[in-house]
Amino acid sequence: MKNFIFCNPTKLIFGQGSIKEISKQIPQGSKILLTYGGGSIIKNGIYDQVISQLTGYEIIPFGGIESNPDAATIDRAIATARDEKCTFILAVGGGSVIDASKAIAMGVKAPMNCWEMVTTYYRGECLPLGTVLTVPATGSEMNPGAVISNRATQEKFSMVGEHPVFSILDPTYTYTLSQHQVACGIADAFMHTLEQYLTFPGQSGVMDRMAEGLLLNILEIAPRLIQDHTDYDTACEYMLSATFGLNYFLAMGVEEDWLTHRLGHELTALAGVTHGASLMMLLPSVMRVMLPEKRDKIIQMGRRVFGISGLDNDATVQATLQAVEKFIHSLGLASSMKEGQIASEVAEEMIRRFHQRGTPLGTLESATPDKIQLIIEDSMK
Ligand code: NZQ
Ligand code: ZN
Repeated sequence: MKNFIFCNPTKLIFGQGSIKEISKQIPQGSKILLTYGGGSIIKNGIYDQVISQLTGYEIIPFGGIESNPDAATIDRAIATARDEKCTFILAVGGGSVIDASKAIAMGVKAPMNCWEMVTTYYRGECLPLGTVLTVPATGSEMNPGAVISNRATQEKFSMVGEHPVFSILDPTYTYTLSQHQVACGIADAFMHTLEQYLTFPGQSGVMDRMAEGLLLNILEIAPRLIQDHTDYDTACEYMLSATFGLNYFLAMGVEEDWLTHRLGHELTALAGVTHGASLMMLLPSVMRVMLPEKRDKIIQMGRRVFGISGLDNDATVQATLQAVEKFIHSLGLASSMKEGQIASEVAEEMIRRFHQRGTPLGTLESATPDKIQLIIEDSMK
């Protein structure tokens, strides 16, 4: 196991009716920038529920944060927060609103605009951020990461801000999600677990068993969720699984990967594919092309997570790949870029970008630009 220092300060407030706790979490006298997306929270009544709990606070609403939040929108929100002298950011929404809000929280005090913060890996003082989560998927409610898009240049990159000080997780807030959004959320949580698990064995039994437990739970609830995501107990499992997928409890002392995410971000930036769906179009090809590096862990996952038994190692690898593709299809998602009808120009531009950057990615930087090209080509076959 590698040395590590772990601290996750986010207070989770979980369960139906948890919104009642919100005013205890935000300092009295705060001036709140309340950030939200394209209006789903207004339609489903969550906005009113939040506002009704915040009597006595001055609130500046900032709506219109798009999925895969754009740096230009974030710059406008930063300007509003500065002009209004806001002292607290409250994000009500999914990963996009929360990520944007992390950038806003840092941008208010930063001597540069949002995209410069992203591209220079800027770290600086942040306003405190609280969240009310409406999409279980990204784990953004309990991690310091943010993924920011630039519509003008068709780019999408990660940055690191601060953890939210608290996150309110009411599973009933997810009932109005579409089935496709739920499928993409499950896919994202599944993929986050794999990015921290599917590397090589023998690093940490604790991490392996925790990741395998989470994967087993996700596989168990997925069909129930796809059928009906308004069953409270199942929605609880979904919400907490997604949070655990990326609050970095699974990354202690182990190597991580994130190759599939880096590829998926390009697919979203260039072709607008929803985040979770983009990952599923790439995962099987990553597993096939990176097989020499991942083989032992794929076998471990096949046996422990997908319950494959009685087969030799080679057959277990193939059965595991088939099980992963079957799972992706059970969510109603495509398991390759070809199946997702991605244009060949998009694939070519992805390949060009990774060659131009020249940086190896993935576990122990094992994915060279040439291997990344093979992955993209495999996914288009
Ligand atoms: O904008 P509104 O109108 O609110 O609609 C949203 C949006 O269209 C809708 N929605 C949200 N809550 C709803 C709802 N519809 C009905 N009922 C509700 N309760 O759902 C749509 C998707 O929302 P979005 O926030 O974009 O989804 P998600 O949570 O999947 O976030 C995706 C973003 O997070 C980034 C992704 O790259 C992407 O930009 N990620 C962030 C990570 C992190 N911070 O750690 C890690 C992830 O790997 C991921 O990259
Ligand atoms: Zn993700």
